[in-house]
Amino acid sequence: MPQLHAQTVSLSRYLIEEQRAGRIDAELRQLIAVVARACTSIAIAVGKGALGGVLGDAGTGNVQGEAQKKLDVLSNDILLEANAWGGHLAACASEEMDHSQPIPDAYPRGGFLLLFDPLDGSSNIDVNVSVGTIFSVLRCPEGVTRPGDEHFLQAGRQQVAAGYCIYGPSTMLVLSTGHGTHAFTLDREQGVFVLTQRGMCIPGQTREFAINVSNRRHWEPAMQAYVDDLMAGSEGPRGKDFNMRWIASMVADVHRILTRGGIFIYPWDNKDPGKAGKLRLMYEASPMGMLVEQAGGAASTGREAILELQPQHLHQRVPVFLGSRQEVEEAVAYHHRHD
Ligand code: AHG
Ligand code: MN
Ligand code: MN
Ligand code: MN
Repeated sequence: MPQLHAQTVSLSRYLIEEQRAGRIDAELRQLIAVVARACTSIAIAVGKGALGGVLGDAGTGNVQGEAQKKLDVLSNDILLEANAWGGHLAACASEEMDHSQPIPDAYPRGGFLLLFDPLDGSSNIDVNVSVGTIFSVLRCPEGVTRPGDEHFLQAGRQQVAAGYCIYGPSTMLVLSTGHGTHAFTLDREQGVFVLTQRGMCIPGQTREFAINVSNRRHWEPAMQAYVDDLMAGSEGPRGKDFNMRWIASMVADVHRILTRGGIFIYPWDNKDPGKAGKLRLMYEASPMGMLVEQAGGAASTGREAILELQPQHLHQRVPVFLGSRQEVEEAVAYHHRHD
């Protein structure tokens, strides 16, 4: 174990303290540690960029109908490999895989289900903009030894842990096990995540919104009215000016919001009316919803709380409004007024 200063709390030490306090059990502690190590491997691959031969398209497509980047596939493989033999999982599910995957029979099984978006923001990887990994942990239902897709279909409120790793100027792991949202920064020399922010807190109000406004003509009227009023600033009904940010890596936009507030929106649009939204409930909306709520924020579909939704299938998509609680409530009020 590298020598860390007494006041430095490593992720391992933080997790052991959480276990001692009875807030997590040993199995969940080990699972989070394995996921963090896998994210460190992904961070190394991402950091190599063009030198690592990992940029560009893989030449394959995924269940989402998206072209896969090489790093989508590599990150997925790293997470599957790391968790196969850990002994704390019963099965994994990934945004990049059609179906969930039980742990191979040759390896010991545990009581958790792990879901992940192995590389979020992959359209940004070739232009050197921050990307990330998002993960969510559920309990495997009692008595189920070989879980199938249906056992993953649990509401976001059932998550026992959620987190992301953002591969940016610094690599940070942001984690909640239901007792606040906390941030760890990777000490690259030591290869250790160090606690750098205990108890992230999202301000209730904000002047900053994140949305891809090029889709405006495809939104429902309530959404158009809400954003038009944001854009009207102090000359409009909101009576204050707003700023806009859109990174197009959900992890990076959410990290900014957890750090300084804001509202992130990917609403329903009629570009593909059959889809309820672009973002995935199980791999993006639910884990980010837990992190944001644990930091005092709110996460809604525009009409109901994301964490209350009962998933109908593994790759279900939902509209996402999350961030500063009072601003999310304002956006929801616009939708209820138009209903
Ligand atoms: P992913 O790379 O995992 O497919 O996710 C991309 C998502 C999300 O990260 C981001 O907020 C959104 O797509 C950006 O969508 P647009 O490119 O339509 O703006
Ligand atoms: Mn994603
Ligand atoms: Mn992805
Ligand atoms: Mn993708």
